[in-house]
Amino acid sequence: MTQTVRWIRFPDAQAVAADAVQRILQIAAASITARGVFRMVLAGGSTPEKAYRLLAGASADWSNWHLYPGDERCLPEGHPERNSSMIRHAWLEQVGIPDAQVHWIPAELGPEQGAMRYEEVVREALPLDLVLLGMGEDGHTASLFPGYEPEPERLVVGVTDAPKPPPERVSLSYTALARSLNMLVLVTGEGKRAAVARWRAGESLPVARLDCAAGIDVLLDEAAWYKK
Ligand code: 6PG
Repeated sequence: MTQTVRWIRFPDAQAVAADAVQRILQIAAASITARGVFRMVLAGGSTPEKAYRLLAGASADWSNWHLYPGDERCLPEGHPERNSSMIRHAWLEQVGIPDAQVHWIPAELGPEQGAMRYEEVVREALPLDLVLLGMGEDGHTASLFPGYEPEPERLVVGVTDAPKPPPERVSLSYTALARSLNMLVLVTGEGKRAAVARWRAGESLPVARLDCAAGIDVLLDEAAWYKK
């Protein structure tokens, strides 16, 4: 696989979030016009959270949006450290996306059961219109961490030993993430600079294994951009 990446730089994290929101709204509108529906995978993490806060104040045809978190931490429902809690508070409590169209990962069931249940949901959702992702300082994306090899035929995997707490998680696999018409990765902060440099140098980080037929748009701030 040869990954096609478009590196798009902005002065700061807020500008990254603002541009991401414009792209999300544009892809959503085009998808709804073409197919009557917009299916988007959501990322956890602090960079996407800024974009969700902006989406909370945007106007869109929310009734046709269908959302699928890309990963979740195996914590009880409503736990403040679940990605679902962040996404609800930052965005969904403020807009009118029907509850039945937000497909939360049942990660409270644990990594194996949670992954098995969510696999059925994701299978029905393919192909996706947009996958939104972040990247960790070690180059992980969603809950796909370095050194982890998901079985290629699985769309959703249970993770039991994530180095970033909590260790148990449920995540879309590389295979599922690749079944999207568009892919957007948000990367901000100096802490990400080393991973960005390794990614650009062709190292086999999780984020470097992402695939999208249309190419991957990576929105970065100056702090995350590698400088020699
Ligand atoms: C999580 C996320 C994870 C996140 C990256 C980047 O559960 O933490 O799903 O993949 O997107 O770690 O997070 P930041 O934007 O907070 O650095």
